[in-house]
Amino acid sequence: MVKTIGILTGGGDCPGLNSVIYGVLLKAADAGYKVIGIEKGWKGFLENRTRELDVSSLDDLHTVGGTLIYTSRTNPYKNAKAIQEPVEREKAIKETAKMMASQIKTLKLDALITIGGDDTLGVAAAMYKYAGANVIGVPKTIDNDLSSTDYTFGFWSAIQLASNTMDNITTTARSHQRIFIIEVMGRDAGWLTLVSGISAGADIILIPEKPFDLQNDIINILRDRVDSGRKYHIIACSEGAIPTRESFERDFSTISQNDIDHLPKDDFGNPLLAKLNMSKVLVKELNNQNKLREYFIEKDVAYDIREVTLGHTMRAGTPNSFDRILGLRLGLQAIKLVNNNNFGQMVCLNGTEIGSVSLSEGAQKKLVPKTSDLLEVADLITKVKCGKQNHT
Ligand code: F6P
Repeated sequence: MVKTIGILTGGGDCPGLNSVIYGVLLKAADAGYKVIGIEKGWKGFLENRTRELDVSSLDDLHTVGGTLIYTSRTNPYKNAKAIQEPVEREKAIKETAKMMASQIKTLKLDALITIGGDDTLGVAAAMYKYAGANVIGVPKTIDNDLSSTDYTFGFWSAIQLASNTMDNITTTARSHQRIFIIEVMGRDAGWLTLVSGISAGADIILIPEKPFDLQNDIINILRDRVDSGRKYHIIACSEGAIPTRESFERDFSTISQNDIDHLPKDDFGNPLLAKLNMSKVLVKELNNQNKLREYFIEKDVAYDIREVTLGHTMRAGTPNSFDRILGLRLGLQAIKLVNNNNFGQMVCLNGTEIGSVSLSEGAQKKLVPKTSDLLEVADLITKVKCGKQNHT
């Protein structure tokens, strides 16, 4: 039987989205299936915005950045989730899931492939859980914060962009003897900052999973670095990095707890951390550190602090080869699951193999664990580059 498969992309765009779409199209063409692109994620799904995708007119789509079928951050469960009373809320979520599942039938689809992060996949997971919908998930996000897959596609392309920028800024930092604070995307997950920071040899790395102490983790390190003859400094700072409560109360004067607690939120309730602009906050706070300034000047080093917010440049451009190949493989695997009527699954990368896990498991968040060896690498780089290594 000729199957008709819908495909949508939700959440932020990400290098490799088109690679997955191309993988789906290649395998579907081989199986004789029809693929219907749903425009603008869940928004277009609810508004019947569809068009058939023809693989023969899309040669080499896997090499192109962004998403051919557009994306949006639309949460169909927004109203249901806003209900305070738990039983009523659960009931409303179930009803929404059933309405969403019936929309698959309205669009005359036999299956729906959803490509997105924890928010988009969470929507699909509930459609399967409450209404047994024929959905498959593909994990996407530059943030790499999804459990049950070793990497999400888009992550390594974003790492390369961030790492290259930090490499490049080093020459300016060196020429002017400046402190540069580079703000990296990633929301409440530090993977992007940690890995790109290590890759570029950042002197200090600040991530959300490890709240920092302004005095110990920044001021003292900068002082030690100047002491050991270093004249420029690169700080990689996650957009979601936060100080410890103790440091916040003791060291910060330019933002209030209220600023942190009342950030605007997106459709899924995620606080828009970039609005805090932690790199800018740190520039202001460090500019207030007169003792450190005097110490720098005494040592004949400029005390000039600048920030660069990488923002959307990190999601821009073409996917790197890793993400192209991963995207294609995940796309093929999604169609294999459709072939086997194995729905409610998220495709994933497990070591070097492509596999799948249940959507409810796969849509969970993955933050940097305290035991990560990457944290040890970052700490050692910071320590050794300020002359603080142990000689035991
Ligand atoms: O989830 C991917 C991501 O790029 C985050 O790192 C970032 O916080 C967010 O999206 C930005 O979203 P938007 O493009 O909607 O501002």
